[in-house]
Amino acid sequence: MALEKSNQFDFIMSSRFVALFIIFLFCHPDALRAQEPSVSTRSLPTTFPAGTELQSQCLNCHKYGENHHPIGITPANPAAYPFPLYNGKIMCLTCHTENHEKGDTNLLRGGPYNDRRDICFKCHAEKEYANINPHIMLDERGKIRSMNGRSICLFCHSAIPNPAVDRTGDVRFRADVAFLCWRCHPLMASPTFFQTHFLKQPSEEMGKYLKEKEQRMQVTIPLVPRDRITCSTCHNPHQKGVILYGPSASGADQKNRLRLQGGKLCIVCHNFS
Ligand code: HEC
Ligand code: HEC
Ligand code: HEC
Ligand code: HEC
Ligand code: HEC
Ligand code: HEC
Ligand code: HEC
Repeated sequence: MALEKSNQFDFIMSSRFVALFIIFLFCHPDALRAQEPSVSTRSLPTTFPAGTELQSQCLNCHKYGENHHPIGITPANPAAYPFPLYNGKIMCLTCHTENHEKGDTNLLRGGPYNDRRDICFKCHAEKEYANINPHIMLDERGKIRSMNGRSICLFCHSAIPNPAVDRTGDVRFRADVAFLCWRCHPLMASPTFFQTHFLKQPSEEMGKYLKEKEQRMQVTIPLVPRDRITCSTCHNPHQKGVILYGPSASGADQKNRLRLQGGKLCIVCHNFS
């Protein structure tokens, strides 16, 4: 949904925007009513079709069928679910509401949450992951480790990447990158730094600067999957020896698994001079 900053004004003035806004209100019918104090939480509008139809409504505007939280899953014990299921499956509105209430960022059901992992542990058990270190990917002989009979790569990727040919734009994930990491990691120690960067899209100018710096400093600063900054933009989660392409291997097993050390990371994007 990101708009080109420079074109934003023209876009707002255009009839396409007006049309989109009307559709937006139709799909998020509480966007206006949220201003009224008398209107609190409301259940699903009956105008929403059920099941897969409903999913496709959200997907018309948000291409979140992959690289977000997986949907269309039938959970093992549906009766125990804290959130609604649609045709027995987890769908967008299992976790989201369409109420645009103030302060309820990300429209999370049952929110707002102080810690964004609180919602995860309504369905996932934190201790499920406690004994896994997915950063150890190779065994003593340098072979790719397996976990529960599957390649460790599939702990994060939805298909096993081939390091000989696959680059940052080629790989697929089981969930959006942050979801992969939040299974085990809380937010970083500095909330301000995190807020100013997470899911932000570098401006066109910064993007150009970044491309030049990547070349010059021989490093990959990946903005996958949606051209936005996420955990793996700054951190390299792979063990040394897994990634073969030099610039993308940078940071493996280094301090804080940062792709560049000692402030160099910051100047890949920022021209602080
Ligand atoms: C299992 C729960 C879950 C499901 C299912 C889910 N989401 Fe989300 N979604 C979240 C959480 C948690 C966040 C907040 C992430 C964060 O803190 O940045 C989020 C954030 C978002 C955002 C805002 C952040 C961004 O990445 O742009 C959008 C848009 C979104 N979801 C759309 C969808 C759509 C569309 C679907 C269905 C295809 C969906 N979600 C399914 C849990 C879920
Ligand atoms: C007509 C287009 C459209 C449809 C359909 C649509 N959305 Fe959105 N949605 C938007 C726009 C526009 C935004 C605000 C810009 C952005 O953050 O991408 C938004 C924002 C969001 C956000 C982030 C809110 C925040 O706190 O930043 C979530 C979550 C979300 N939508 C979920 C859904 C879900 C779930 C559905 C299906 C019921 C859905 N959307 C259907 C256009 C749409
Ligand atoms: C409504 C329940 C629900 C919520 C809320 C939820 N999940 Fe999930 N999640 C599931 C189910 C069910 C699966 C399917 C795999 C399984 O059976 O564990 C899944 C799968 C995943 C996967 C795919 C890889 C894997 O381990 O199976 C990730 C990553 C994930 N969840 C992370 C999160 C994170 C992080 C949050 C919170 C931001 C979250 N989930 C919130 C129910 C949920
Ligand atoms: C803890 C999660 C995680 C695990 C486990 C994991 N990856 Fe990745 N991988 C990522 C993320 C996130 C990216 C995106 C960032 C990037 O492009 O480097 C990625 C990107 C890649 C890329 C593209 C590198 C580039 O930028 O050129 C390759 C190749 C790859 N992974 C191979 C593997 C292989 C092989 C395994 C198993 C030995 C593996 N990964 C295990 C999270 C993981
Ligand atoms: C299944 C649990 C698990 C998942 C998922 C996971 N990690 Fe980790 N991570 C660990 C453990 C355990 C350690 C500590 C041991 C180590 O550094 O090898 C660690 C260490 C780290 C460190 C270094 C912190 C320090 O104190 O030195 C960073 C940074 C990191 N992980 C980032 C990530 C990112 C980014 C992702 C998602 C792509 C991710 N992790 C996914 C378990 C996990
Ligand atoms: C814009 C770059 C950037 C992004 C995005 C980012 N980090 Fe970090 N992260 C850092 C830096 C820099 C440090 C080192 C902080 C320090 O030295 O105190 C760090 C530290 C960490 C640590 C070590 C312990 C700590 O809290 O200081 C973990 C774990 C971690 N990050 C995980 C994540 C996860 C998970 C995400 C995504 C949800 C993420 N990071 C997103 C730059 C980033
Ligand atoms: C991948 C690119 C990238 C990296 C790496 C990065 N930043 Fe940023 N930073 C951004 C973007 C994008 C913004 C948001 C700018 C905006 O939207 O105006 C931002 C915002 C900031 C801000 C807020 C001030 C402002 O201009 O809005 C500070 C301070 C900052 N970054 C410092 C750092 C530091 C320190 C590091 C290294 C630890 C770092 N950044 C690493 C891209 C990056």
